Amino acid sequence: MEKIIITIDGYSSCGKSTLAKQLAKQLNYIFIDSGAMYRAITLYFLDNKVDIKDTAAIEAGLRQIKLKFVNNAATGQSDIWLNGENVEKAIRSMRVSNHVSDIATLEAVRHFAVAQQQAMGQKKGIVMDGRDIGTTVFPKAELKIFMTASIEVRTHRRYDELKAKFPDISLEEVKENLLKRDLIDSTRKISPLRQAKDAITLDNSRLSMPQQLDIATGWAEEILKKTQLATKNHQLR
Ligand code: DC
Repeated sequence: MEKIIITIDGYSSCGKSTLAKQLAKQLNYIFIDSGAMYRAITLYFLDNKVDIKDTAAIEAGLRQIKLKFVNNAATGQSDIWLNGENVEKAIRSMRVSNHVSDIATLEAVRHFAVAQQQAMGQKKGIVMDGRDIGTTVFPKAELKIFMTASIEVRTHRRYDELKAKFPDISLEEVKENLLKRDLIDSTRKISPLRQAKDAITLDNSRLSMPQQLDIATGWAEEILKKTQLATKNHQLR
């Protein structure tokens, strides 16, 4: 069966990864959280005190980084591993959240991550979420979704998610971090967060998870039908 590439971009904490994960499961596709890659790079840079004003230090740091996604049998999720260690929890800390957008603006970091993301999509059958997936990583993706939700909804979602892992966190701190990251992500020079011209908007402020999954699955099925029809017609010619 023909496979497609699905990209999901949008502001922080819109629920992109949740939808991408569920959509990938439904279609039996690979799910990649590209933000986890930028977070893991940030964790490495912080732990190893890489000076982000020094290009040579950034490049040397990146040469030491090996990232991979490994299926976690206990949770059924795909966890990110950095140099042989599962860093899925560590990359979600506020320490990493407070620095990741700045590190994601660096040219060498973007080249490093984008090259690996494009390699993962070579065989298609992938759902990837992030900020520049439909614009830079897979500009020819068959289905591009741009997700939005109000800042209040996003703050509460991220707060609820983080509270269990980091009990000291405050609602205000979470909101401030989201707004700051949105600003850096959408105003940076290289691959800023933008809605691709051919992306469909999905505002999930008032949608439940099953409702948003239904909508996105409908879009994917429609495109898959068209793709299969086009292939059939091509074969008949
Ligand atoms: O999706 P997330 O919040 O975990 O992403 C963390 C940061 O990584 C986000 O603030 C911006 C950056 N990012 C990016 O620049 N490009 C992507 N494709 C994904 C994330």
